Amino acid sequence: MSILIKNIKELIQVEQQPKKWICGKDMATIETIKDAWLFIKGERIERFGEMKVFNLNEFPEDAQLIDASGKMVFPSFVDSHTHLVYPASREIEYIDKIKGLSYEEIAKRGGGILNSAKKMQDISEEELVGSAMQRLEEIISYGTGAVEIKSGYGLTTESELKMLRVIKRLKALSPLTIKSTFLGAHSIPLEFRGDQTKYVDLVINKMLPKVADEGLANFIDVFCDTGFFTVEDTDRILEAGLKYGLRGKIHANELDFSGGIQVGVKHNALSVDHLEFTGDAEIEALLNSQTMPTILPGAAFFLNMIYSPARKMIDAGLPVALASDFNPGSSPSGNMQLILSMACILYKLLPEEAINATTINTAYAMGLSEELGSIAVDKRANLFITTELPTYEFMPYYYGTNKVDTAILNGKVVSQ
Ligand code: NIG
Ligand code: FE
Repeated sequence: MSILIKNIKELIQVEQQPKKWICGKDMATIETIKDAWLFIKGERIERFGEMKVFNLNEFPEDAQLIDASGKMVFPSFVDSHTHLVYPASREIEYIDKIKGLSYEEIAKRGGGILNSAKKMQDISEEELVGSAMQRLEEIISYGTGAVEIKSGYGLTTESELKMLRVIKRLKALSPLTIKSTFLGAHSIPLEFRGDQTKYVDLVINKMLPKVADEGLANFIDVFCDTGFFTVEDTDRILEAGLKYGLRGKIHANELDFSGGIQVGVKHNALSVDHLEFTGDAEIEALLNSQTMPTILPGAAFFLNMIYSPARKMIDAGLPVALASDFNPGSSPSGNMQLILSMACILYKLLPEEAINATTINTAYAMGLSEELGSIAVDKRANLFITTELPTYEFMPYYYGTNKVDTAILNGKVVSQ
């Protein structure tokens, strides 16, 4: 099967030279082709170019022809941080938050992550697969083409394995490219409060070997922050993960200057995520590392917290990635178009910076930048055709409505 898209008003995020990420002032530039065509063969992008050198006879007669007049083509968003397998929504806590309780106060009362973990004990794999598939369909319709999904609402060996098995089934069922992350150290179960080292021992000695044995995870995560896991806990877990070939992608510096960024970099984590509390020392640690600083605007917005200093990081020469953090407690949305708008409005990123941050840089943060994150020859054909847009800047500007008309994943139209 092949697809030929012609009369594309503008082909966005074209890449001639493969790049693993974009950093510093280069983030303010994206390459585009105006009045373009794009040819997809099988699951891959085969060629693209300008309409002025377009000859229909050069393409197979049976190719599906799409006329994109007035519309643009973007590479699919890559969402490198989500918790979208969960048993139930948590809008009751949302009301508590409106009334003034903080995220930490809710967690202390056994709410928050522990609330989801309690419900996780009783729910079946089938139910979890069913609800997660609906969420995956929803994010596809908003333009996402690859997504990372974490465990972390299990917090017992059995329930963590259940979540990861669900993610494994989603990988087989969904056209999205999915990576899974083992987040046993997401919160400290009540029975381990006061002796959390024992829980860390359980994560390292009981859960991790089973996760690795069944090949259930691509990465390992720890919530390294005040009231959650310490730098020492994180150090041990990341080291243990690496022994099983699992690189870290950790939650760091959301609630304080926790040392999470530095310990992540120390263990060559693929990404450190949240980063509300990032100062000069943290930026220094990230420069010259292979760790992608990843900001989660949805969580900071939803929890009404301070915003990570994205501008300062980019101006210091760092790359920045932006993901949704889709989860029932702190960011109940996987809409990456909204993340694009938040990037510009709340973090003062230019539209080009926001596009780089949600495509090629998040692809790196999932170990996928050779495969996804731009329109390039031989990359996987995960892309979307927009509704009619005056300019690409309209994409973050006109926030709140869906501007994806047709989603194509693995070279097939999956949502229209
Ligand atoms: O990324 N910060 C830690 N974990 C999640 C929240 C999960 C939850 O509240 O359910 C996050 O925001
Ligand atoms: Fe998260």
